[in-house]
Amino acid sequence: MTKYLARRASIFCLTAPFLIGCFSKKNDESMIGIKDETITEKVDSLLSKMSLEEKVGQMNQYSDFWDVTGPPPKEGVAKDKLEDLKEGLVGSILNINSTEEARKLQKIAVEDTRLGIPLIMGYDVIHGHKTLAPIPLAEAASWDLEAIEKSARIAAIEASASGINWTFAPMVDISRDPRWGRVMEGAGEDPFLGSKIAKARIKGFQGDDLSKNNTIAACAKHFAAYGFSEAGRDYNPVDIGNSTLHNLVLPPFKAAVDSGVKTLMNSFNELNGIPATGSKYLQRDILKGKWGFDGFVVSDWASISEMVDWGHAEDNRDAARIAAIAGSDMDMEGYAYVNELAKLVKDGVIKEEIIDDAVRRILTVKFELGLFDDPYRYCDPVNEKENIGKKEHHDAVLDVAKKSIVLLKNENNLLPLKKQGQKIALIGPLANDKNSSLGSWRLGSDDNTAVSVLEGLQNYKGNEILFEEGIDLFIGETDFRKEIVVNTTDNSKIKNAIATAKKADVVIMVLGEHGFQSGEGRSRTELDLPGLQQELLEEVYKVNKNIVLVLNNGRPLTIEWADKNIPCIVEAWQLGSQSGNAIANVLYGDYNPSGKLPMTFPRNVGQIPIYYNYKNTGRPVENVPVFWSHYIDSENTPLYPFGHGLSYTTFEYKNLKVNSDKPTVNDSVKVTVDVQNTGDFDGKEVVQLYIRDLVGSITRPVKELKGFELISLKKGESKTVEFVLTKNELGFFDNNGDFIVEPGKFKVFVGGSSITKLEENFEIIE
Ligand code: NOJ
Repeated sequence: MTKYLARRASIFCLTAPFLIGCFSKKNDESMIGIKDETITEKVDSLLSKMSLEEKVGQMNQYSDFWDVTGPPPKEGVAKDKLEDLKEGLVGSILNINSTEEARKLQKIAVEDTRLGIPLIMGYDVIHGHKTLAPIPLAEAASWDLEAIEKSARIAAIEASASGINWTFAPMVDISRDPRWGRVMEGAGEDPFLGSKIAKARIKGFQGDDLSKNNTIAACAKHFAAYGFSEAGRDYNPVDIGNSTLHNLVLPPFKAAVDSGVKTLMNSFNELNGIPATGSKYLQRDILKGKWGFDGFVVSDWASISEMVDWGHAEDNRDAARIAAIAGSDMDMEGYAYVNELAKLVKDGVIKEEIIDDAVRRILTVKFELGLFDDPYRYCDPVNEKENIGKKEHHDAVLDVAKKSIVLLKNENNLLPLKKQGQKIALIGPLANDKNSSLGSWRLGSDDNTAVSVLEGLQNYKGNEILFEEGIDLFIGETDFRKEIVVNTTDNSKIKNAIATAKKADVVIMVLGEHGFQSGEGRSRTELDLPGLQQELLEEVYKVNKNIVLVLNNGRPLTIEWADKNIPCIVEAWQLGSQSGNAIANVLYGDYNPSGKLPMTFPRNVGQIPIYYNYKNTGRPVENVPVFWSHYIDSENTPLYPFGHGLSYTTFEYKNLKVNSDKPTVNDSVKVTVDVQNTGDFDGKEVVQLYIRDLVGSITRPVKELKGFELISLKKGESKTVEFVLTKNELGFFDNNGDFIVEPGKFKVFVGGSSITKLEENFEIIE
């Protein structure tokens, strides 16, 4: 093996002058002979050769000039900073998306700098790269961890073939506020489901071996509590208590760390008065201290320098000082570290060990990615050509897209559609749209490449499709970097839709939000159907009540009128490249829907935040006048609860059993339930288990998800599903962040949604 490595090294030295010990023209500090050392030894050896400025350079990340995913910095664009790159003052670049560009910049880093340290190239590969999968919230609705992992794997294969070796995903922020546009990027409101999905995504991105050229480093973001921004307004402060922090916000990050995630990104928000980027408590005490995280933390876009705007730092120098001491290892486009850190060390304000620790972490990930073995391993144009947009990638995203669809309501047997002899009116501004369903994170993909619903339905030949747009949703163009202008005045096309609907047996209406109406910087105060869509829906309903409403959206919407009046409602989110095919497969019953909501749908905006794992309050009682916890103008209950989702078949749950009614704190509790497919179709069901800890030193929610299993059942078939509850599921975090299990009475509930009533009891004894 050693012989082989030596031979390989000498061959590479002849052919590729960039390798360790021979890769830099200026690489006078030779690293020959460190090939057989451990990564730690290699990192230490390299670190000992670095000047302070070169170390700080590793902590500096610029955006490539051709694209930006945040406000342009006043320092100018990265292309004007090539000198910095040559001086070894840049450790990472984001927003490069081609092997050609990646190779060009990597070449400067490895050939023109003194030590030839390769760049790590980051990118927002959020739900696919060229081939797009459903937005993450949609994928979460599949509750299918295997499909989710596969989707991330494909994203990694395509991204790594485009010069990228680090994704800023998964976003593991729990959120209870659909006004916040970024709920589309996460896994919803629940920490248990969120933790499982975080693990699956990280596994998909990083694979089993990070040094392979088709795996990439993942980044769990945004640390921490970004999903709790006040009033759902992006970048707003977060003010939450310890119990929420430890029981809801942190668990998915901990799960990410436990599954070996290589990096974390901190967040734009302040948490209880301290910007997360400058929070020593979060980054040093919890993440790197208590959890032992040994990867590195990147800031969010300029979040270090934004501490000045927050009023937490006096100027960039002060911001750099606070962030470095707090444990932020890399500065994304903030220009605080590159301009200030070395001076801060020289002035004795920051100890060099802090810099060394950050650089050690960053170099370690670069070594683990194999960048020192071959800095161009992600820059192969042949690989790029062969591995992007392959048929098998489209098959996989179609598979997860079908699984992500949630059937919210299905009356009058309108669905599945009959395959022959029907006149179908297809109406709505999103029905023939090839762009919106690509979502708002599609930097590596091409606009207008999704399969539209019209195209998906046209693959089925037996029915006649009559298409009408009904209204224009927008005025002008829709763009990732621009504010969207919604049409609220021109309803002149509605009459065409009415005329078409009159002729049809069934009307399919595709309404919702454009992909660029959710995502970063896209908070909303109303969650209705934007623009004139509600008017369109009601006008069509007046002439034809056989409506299937297909929703395309990036967040829960308030569709109370539709729920009361429209017989069938299908939640189809933004499903990526294969959207229209997935929707058509489900509408025609070629895939029996199995998705379940990962986030509660409110009746109205006033109910927000609304979530399934609420506290009972001291006045939960209905049927007493006035003085109980309720609204005078709305029900407390959601429109659709967490975990809800129908199938074309029906499932019956019975024989819920707990193996012991008095387990001790150290015992595990076995719970079994029989599930039978009692309807007319084969189908899949997400069997969900919730607990309630009846009395707690810190009050416990009325229900908490603690297990789920996705099962397939043929028509008439039954299965016994077994769950095992251990300490991990039965305990919770106290206000110091310590995990405790308290003896006492518990309820356990099993069913097909969070409002299941099937329950059993047990009591944990000392
Ligand atoms: C800002 C976003 O908050 C973050 O999630 C993203 O990764 C960076 N911009 C880089 O584009």
